[in-house]
Amino acid sequence: MPANEEIQQTFIMLKPDAIERGLVGEIISRFEQVGLKLLRMETKKLSKETVARHYKSLMQKPFFPKLEAYVTRGAVVATIWQGRDAIKVARKIVGATDPALAEKGTIRGDLGSNCTENLVHASDSPEAARSEIANFFGKVA
Ligand code: TYD
Repeated sequence: MPANEEIQQTFIMLKPDAIERGLVGEIISRFEQVGLKLLRMETKKLSKETVARHYKSLMQKPFFPKLEAYVTRGAVVATIWQGRDAIKVARKIVGATDPALAEKGTIRGDLGSNCTENLVHASDSPEAARSEIANFFGKVA
């Protein structure tokens, strides 16, 4: 295994539009197809406190109220995945934040609606993965 590739866990959240549009199976399949292993999956309605912790770096942004309304308008599917280089692998198939700019073949590029309603969140670093998993699931092994 190359030194820069390690077994990692990552937090992936399917946002309310994934459930509303019936895309949960399709999105979960895409993560399975790149070899990631599903460790945990839970459907939940997020509190404003959970959202504030999850998006704390974005709370001062002008788009935050819209983002908060979107991720709390229905249930999300919170998941933990494991695999080699899982964080980078997952971010790659999620695609760029704005679906209009995301490559074809990525989840957002193929299926996302707009810069807010982009279907999925995936952790961007090991530190983010740890704190996001703790925020959504509490301390897990
Ligand atoms: P960010 O962490 O920058 O992107 P990513 O989800 O690709 O890691 O932003 C988090 C979410 O905030 C993003 O998925 C959608 C929302 N958002 C907006 O609603 N408007 C914006 O202009 C940006 C940059 C993000």
